[in-house]
Amino acid sequence: MRRSWKAIAAVALTGALAISGCGGGDDGGGDSSQVEVFSWWTGPGEADGLKAMQEQFEKQNPGTKFVNAAIAGGSGTQAQAVLASRLQNRKPPDSFQGHAGAELLDYIKAGQIEPLDSFYEENNLKAAYPQQLLEQITYQGKIYSVPVNIHRSNVLWYNPGILKDAGLSGPPTSIADFITALKAVKDKTGKVPLSLGAQWTADHLLENVLLGDLGTDAYNALWKPGADWSTPAVTKALTDFAEIMKYTTAEAASTDWQGASKAVVDGKAAFNIMGDWAYGYFVNPAPNGLGKKLDTDFKYAPSPGTDGTYMWLSDSFTLPKNAPHRGGALAWLKVASSKEGQDLFNPKKGSIPARKDADKSLYKDYLEYAFNEWNKPGVKLAGSFWHGVYANKKWHTDIDTAVGLFLQNKDVAKLQQALVGAAKNNAQ
Ligand code: GAL
Repeated sequence: MRRSWKAIAAVALTGALAISGCGGGDDGGGDSSQVEVFSWWTGPGEADGLKAMQEQFEKQNPGTKFVNAAIAGGSGTQAQAVLASRLQNRKPPDSFQGHAGAELLDYIKAGQIEPLDSFYEENNLKAAYPQQLLEQITYQGKIYSVPVNIHRSNVLWYNPGILKDAGLSGPPTSIADFITALKAVKDKTGKVPLSLGAQWTADHLLENVLLGDLGTDAYNALWKPGADWSTPAVTKALTDFAEIMKYTTAEAASTDWQGASKAVVDGKAAFNIMGDWAYGYFVNPAPNGLGKKLDTDFKYAPSPGTDGTYMWLSDSFTLPKNAPHRGGALAWLKVASSKEGQDLFNPKKGSIPARKDADKSLYKDYLEYAFNEWNKPGVKLAGSFWHGVYANKKWHTDIDTAVGLFLQNKDVAKLQQALVGAAKNNAQ
């Protein structure tokens, strides 16, 4: 399976575009009086992980001021717009968060970030990362970012008490079962069957329903050039998506993923489909986390129909061209790429390390499951489109626009038509 996934990765990362004006290089040096690190990790849960890495950075670099330039908004909805305008105006931060895969490729092709090959050599990093991940951050033979983690997108979080009240013996394992379970929760408990937040959480749900209904190979094929989104199988998945949406709370821009996920552990909603950053939020101690207990307050399962497949994404940090504090940026990348940095960051973030040599004993409960699944021989991999692996920024926006219209008109045929068009315009 890894081979077929790699083929997809190669499609995502090959292309004829030359990188113009790609000078620079990572020859070290530069102003290290401070470092401005740009991300979207402001909220409860994810900010804890960043803080842990910041503290490690400050310990190792007492003379460098750490400036946390995080901008709120789950999955980077606001941050990415601000970042785009800063890069456009040539006012980059010293390092910014970008997803491995198609999203990173956009920055590379636009000539906005520098290759990090000598940094990788100096820090012996090539051997530290899995080959398939290196392929997602390499373009035309050069490596462009430092991955800190692997997140899993396809997780179903659920409230065991509500499932029991609904007469369900366990979590649903297919999309059809899921719809039956949502109906049972609605009819028997009066609780919210599936919690949802801002619009992007519907995009996140969509990738999970596509994967669950189509299966891994057909989902992966959707992101290849010439892919056909007009098939009856896609119609069926979108029809199921529409049906599932009937059991959600109304889309509320004011509630981000934290509000939607929290509804499950608070006993207000039965299910939430969210990436495993929700786990960090659930279990980290208060006041930042919710201090909840796995198995008592919540449980997890692969999102329906996706057992055996890891729908993955990876946060990585970059060295922008003309970073004002290049020395500070390289010192930050050193912490972000280190075993110590990743082992401090990931248990709090709710992710597993991108490096292969992490201390496994630090990853407990859900994270132990994630760790084992990711490293299982023969695990099937699928890239998250919403979190930057398969869709570049334009495609991502086009899908979001289509989903936004669907939330208004509930018209499956129009949604499919828009997704067919988005694939035609953007698959490369
Ligand atoms: C993802 C990101 C995660 C987490 C999540 C929710 O795009 O990769 O690290 O921050 O958004 O904000």
